[in-house]
Amino acid sequence: MSDSLQRIATVVGAGLVGAGWAIVFARAGWTVRIFDTLQTTRDGVLTLIEGNLRDLARFDLINEPVEKILARISVHADLGAAVSGVDYVQESVFETVAAKRPVYEALDTLAPAGAPIGSSSSGIPASAFTEGCKTRARMLIAHPVNPPYLVPLVELVPAPWTEVGVVDSVYKVMSDVGQEPIRIRHEVEGFVLNRLQGALLNEAWALFDEGAASAADIDKTISVGLGLRWSFMGPFETIDLNAPRGVADYAARLGPLYHGVAKSRTTPQAWNADLISRVEAERRTELSAADLDARRAWRDRRLMALAAHKAKAAKEIGS
Ligand SMILES: NC(=O)c1ccc[n+]([C@@H]2O[C@H](COP(=O)([O-])OP(=O)(O)OC[C@H]3O[C@@H](n4cnc5c(N)ncnc54)[C@H](O)[C@@H]3O)[C@@H](O)[C@H]2O)c1
Repeated sequence: MSDSLQRIATVVGAGLVGAGWAIVFARAGWTVRIFDTLQTTRDGVLTLIEGNLRDLARFDLINEPVEKILARISVHADLGAAVSGVDYVQESVFETVAAKRPVYEALDTLAPAGAPIGSSSSGIPASAFTEGCKTRARMLIAHPVNPPYLVPLVELVPAPWTEVGVVDSVYKVMSDVGQEPIRIRHEVEGFVLNRLQGALLNEAWALFDEGAASAADIDKTISVGLGLRWSFMGPFETIDLNAPRGVADYAARLGPLYHGVAKSRTTPQAWNADLISRVEAERRTELSAADLDARRAWRDRRLMALAAHKAKAAKEIGS
């Protein structure tokens, strides 16, 4: 890879997540080339990014003027030109094998051999769309959380044929641009993040279905309960601190309770149409469909305030 000051990343697919990746790399000083097949996306993406950068500036989350960061980003209609001479490619097209496979077939020959290619895939493993590629050893999953410029976790998931050195080098790329990479050792459906999220969601749907609590109260259990600690520590550290002598003590005290809970859900249920319509009805009384976008913008501002707080607290209290 070239000198850090001249590093170039190409973002392939510039929807919600791809536009967010462009901010991550440009904010870190990289030159960013965006490629998207859709003209309307190409036409609108820089305005969207500029708006997000202005919000970041308001929360003191960028160290340079918006214009300087924005000037590092260009938009391309030709994939070959977009990946010529780049150091890293981040793919963020639709979450289907049919959409991803042809992109990888094209990148296989177009992207410089030394450039790793990471996919934002939320759950489809890289082996499902890179198997036929000659350069598949440099392809892997680099799964972000939305929006990646506010939530730093990136799951790195190699396919069986991804070179270990490539995982190491993408780990370094992600660290260099301010993300927090983790290594998933082998392919597993949903990776780690969406398996954990799925466990919680499946239980939330089941509790709602049996009438144990309203959707609003189930949400509140996280937003004013468990989620407060989870914004700075995970489940293992949480239980390590929740018994006088640590995690083994916690397991001895509460292990049987959790085993009982697990045994009560032996048959996984699909989220069926009736259940979905009942949750949808409750959510739409809380928030109309017309207000979803405004609420998303509110969520991002809350995340910005949290990111600013976390940076300050890490300095003052330690992380
Ligand atoms: N939305 C999330 O919360 C989230 C979080 C993490 C990861 N992801 C993953 O990121 C990826 C993108 O998701 P998104 O939410 O940004 O979707 P999106 O629908 O907002 O954007 C997808 C973009 O890809 C473009 N595209 C489609 N085919 C293309 C091609 N062949 N070449 C170039 N561009 C192409 C589309 O025009 C569109 O702009 C998916 O794999 C998704 O699972 C999404």
